Amino acid sequence: MRSPVLAIIGGTGLEEFIDVGSRYFKETMFGTVNYVLGSISDVDILFIPRHGFKHENPPHKVLYKANIELISAHNISKVIAFSAVGSLRYDLKPGSIVIPNQLIDYSLHGETFYDFDSFHVDFTFPYCRDMGLKAYQVLRERGLDVKYGYTYVSTYGPRFESAGEIDMLRRMGADIVGMTNIPESVLAREAGLHYMLISIVSNYAAGMQDRVTSEEVYDVMASVKPKLKDILHILVEVFADFEPTDGCSSFRDVFRDFREVRRI
Ligand code: HPA
Repeated sequence: MRSPVLAIIGGTGLEEFIDVGSRYFKETMFGTVNYVLGSISDVDILFIPRHGFKHENPPHKVLYKANIELISAHNISKVIAFSAVGSLRYDLKPGSIVIPNQLIDYSLHGETFYDFDSFHVDFTFPYCRDMGLKAYQVLRERGLDVKYGYTYVSTYGPRFESAGEIDMLRRMGADIVGMTNIPESVLAREAGLHYMLISIVSNYAAGMQDRVTSEEVYDVMASVKPKLKDILHILVEVFADFEPTDGCSSFRDVFRDFREVRRI
């Protein structure tokens, strides 16, 4: 088996688009990760279902550190993450695909690799700009309707938000809401990974429609699967040989040293 060149973190369901090579359970000091090494369009990838293969990890119990550590241990530098989000704007309808470029932390999750060292990563641009813009450009060229440049707000979950919270979050400048991008994107930055997010709008957020249900989220996610398959194939082909030059990787050496000292 060749070494994977990209990591994909997916919600449940994306696995069916991968030529699965082998499945693994790997113990890390942050928990046991269940993952797949396989390929998409003949590009070797590592795939982690964020919530587990049986959707057993709710958003606040996802093994975020173990997932990011696993990607680093495979010497992979580029990550494409997928996740469902609610929309805070009527012009972003359910079924829309959005590549966010900004992030607000309303989760107070606080998870970090640097619990014991005083080290602060730059998070001015939370997502890899080179990857995000390249993805947007290529997907548009291929005729796919995707949007770029919105602000994701991360809540703690697992409950959906109240209408009052959504009203406040909209005034704060948020466009889409999800429960996992904090701490996932923070840990990716701490590990010096190039990390981008494809978010799939599954519903209007609380207060913008009668009520928010998990069933609706699953139904919309199922309906966009053919589009996600195209997106996944295109992005894997594009990013296999793409070398981002923005600052995301500046923290990789610090993380490497940190891993050695802590013997992760
Ligand atoms: N809120 C938070 N997370 C979500 C939502 C939502 O409305 N939809 C999908 N993930």
